[in-house]
Amino acid sequence: MDKATEIWLASALVDGDTSIVDGLVQMVRVRDPITASHLDAVGLLARRLAMALDLETVTIARVTAAARLHDIGKTTIPMRVLDKPGALDEAEWSQIRRHPDHGATIVAGFPQLEKYRAIVRSHHERVDGRGYPDGLLGSEIPYESRIIAVADAFHAMTVSRPYSRVRTPAMALAELMNCSGTQFEPEYVDAFVKMMGYRSRSLRSA
Ligand SMILES: [Fe+2]
Repeated sequence: MDKATEIWLASALVDGDTSIVDGLVQMVRVRDPITASHLDAVGLLARRLAMALDLETVTIARVTAAARLHDIGKTTIPMRVLDKPGALDEAEWSQIRRHPDHGATIVAGFPQLEKYRAIVRSHHERVDGRGYPDGLLGSEIPYESRIIAVADAFHAMTVSRPYSRVRTPAMALAELMNCSGTQFEPEYVDAFVKMMGYRSRSLRSA
């Protein structure tokens, strides 16, 4: 059995969560395929990072499921805000900034998904304490959220969005390194860079 199948089974057998998570992502897909693709991609990237960090199989499954759910709260934001090509106004930003809290509330509606609630809520926290919604600092942020934050940022930077320019993988990795220790957990940035087949030194000189 390959590692990916083993993780899927761990998720299905230990947690029984896979079909609920798949159903929630499918609900997102019907309304907002771009966010659903982001959830799929971040699920895969976060799983690979958790594997690279040599975490336990059950932990890898938990990181994967939480990554697939992390932006579920975006279903509470009007599509005209999510798709807006120009700059967002203050009221629109405040709607965007509520999605981790709303996501946690949605997840908490499923008793089996309770263990993901704090992870979803904290995926926009920063290790320097300047993130949202709670301004948690360093290890106060669930480590699963810190893993997901790296995968989330990398994917967001490497796909074309109406409000930001697309970056190459090397540029996105260099940006992760720029924000290592402020926005992101350094250990997870280093592991992600290595997992993507780059060396930190070559990105610094790029
Ligand atoms: Fe998010």
